[in-house]
Amino acid sequence: MQERIDLLVHNATELLTAKPASNGPVRGNELDQLEIIPNGAFAVNNGTIIAVGSSDELLSRYQAKREIDASGRLVSPAFSDPHTHLIHGGSRHLEWQAKVLEQPALGIDGGIRSTINATAAASDTELLTHATEILDDMLIAGTTAIEAKSGYGLSESSELRLLQLAASIKHPVKLSSTFLGAHTVPERHRENREAYISEVIAMMAAARELSDTCDIAIDPISFTAEEGQRLIDAAKLHNFELRVHADQTGDISGTELAAKAGALTVDHLDFVSDESLAALSHSTTVGVIFPAANMHLLDMTPGREGKQPRDLVAWADRLIASGAALALSTDYNPGTAPCTSMQMTMQLACRLYRISYASAWHLATINAAHALGNAAERGSIEVGKVADFVIWNVAEHGQVIHRIGSNLAAEVYIAGTIVARDGRRIETGK
Ligand code: NIG
Ligand code: FE
Repeated sequence: MQERIDLLVHNATELLTAKPASNGPVRGNELDQLEIIPNGAFAVNNGTIIAVGSSDELLSRYQAKREIDASGRLVSPAFSDPHTHLIHGGSRHLEWQAKVLEQPALGIDGGIRSTINATAAASDTELLTHATEILDDMLIAGTTAIEAKSGYGLSESSELRLLQLAASIKHPVKLSSTFLGAHTVPERHRENREAYISEVIAMMAAARELSDTCDIAIDPISFTAEEGQRLIDAAKLHNFELRVHADQTGDISGTELAAKAGALTVDHLDFVSDESLAALSHSTTVGVIFPAANMHLLDMTPGREGKQPRDLVAWADRLIASGAALALSTDYNPGTAPCTSMQMTMQLACRLYRISYASAWHLATINAAHALGNAAERGSIEVGKVADFVIWNVAEHGQVIHRIGSNLAAEVYIAGTIVARDGRRIETGK
């Protein structure tokens, strides 16, 4: 007798499961061993995957209320995006053009500070409307879970406002909220960094009510290693999980501090030292890297304007060879990485880092879910996981990455329910 279930997806030309060979993030050489089931199928009941295998086997075993024939299509897990600066006012496109054209500064305070001003000037409704548009963009491109940071307030009331707005968002994309009061030192404290560090530490109790995770930027343009360590210690006292922006514009051992502190992620790593990398590879911390930011900045990295871009191929090679757990993310923000697409992120990763399609898919699915802290539920098509998946407009996983500039996600599903089709969100009432 056939078992009755809710949904059977079958005949996928390629069913890319991203199932890891062993527990934990996929590392080193294993990144090239991507599980793909030809003519694959999976069964879903109550929004959860209950079986994965060949179409012949699953079609004979189950009778489904709904069947999806994915002939000629690639089916993959949906993406997790573990590092975004979702809620902000303004857009820094004029500043970017001026830098690209090597024109004089625009007479505005650029970078993060410009976004802080634009965020303060925006109403709650404007911020939420914009954040929803960005989330829609992510969803139609196959992302169903993201991390979202505050960090464009940098005072107690403005940081809490951003965390409260994040908590109020109702959207099918699952949002995990992070307190980033320690993004950089705000203008008013430029001459008195200590005052701001005390202010951030004082914000932590209230921020903890609204977020489980605290991010601290340890970088030449943000906080020093010593300041960062104090902020880490304070965040730990408040039982925050940790994320660290580290070593984006120069090496100051932020990566090592993060790994030693047991952070969930350490993000950027552009100038990571061998010592820090060794600490990372012996830790459970996931290193999150951002090809869209690398591409968008090239020789315009803050504080390093005009210098030669780094050798991204040698850098990525070193990171992967170290055996550290790594993940891809958009780093969505209005200045240095205005990118919402994990498809584009994989494309840039393959080209800029010279990594395989298989590696990019692992880094954007199962490893990104680890970086988001939700790999028990998402990131692969495996028994027991939530049925978040994408049916693609192409048959092979390499085509998704090879294509430039088109969203190839035909249908996006959350817990077995369709939420987007052909670039449009479908209202589910949830
Ligand atoms: O790329 N330390 C900051 N780095 C941020 C930049 C955000 C922005 O430029 O607005 C990042 O993650
Ligand atoms: Fe960031």
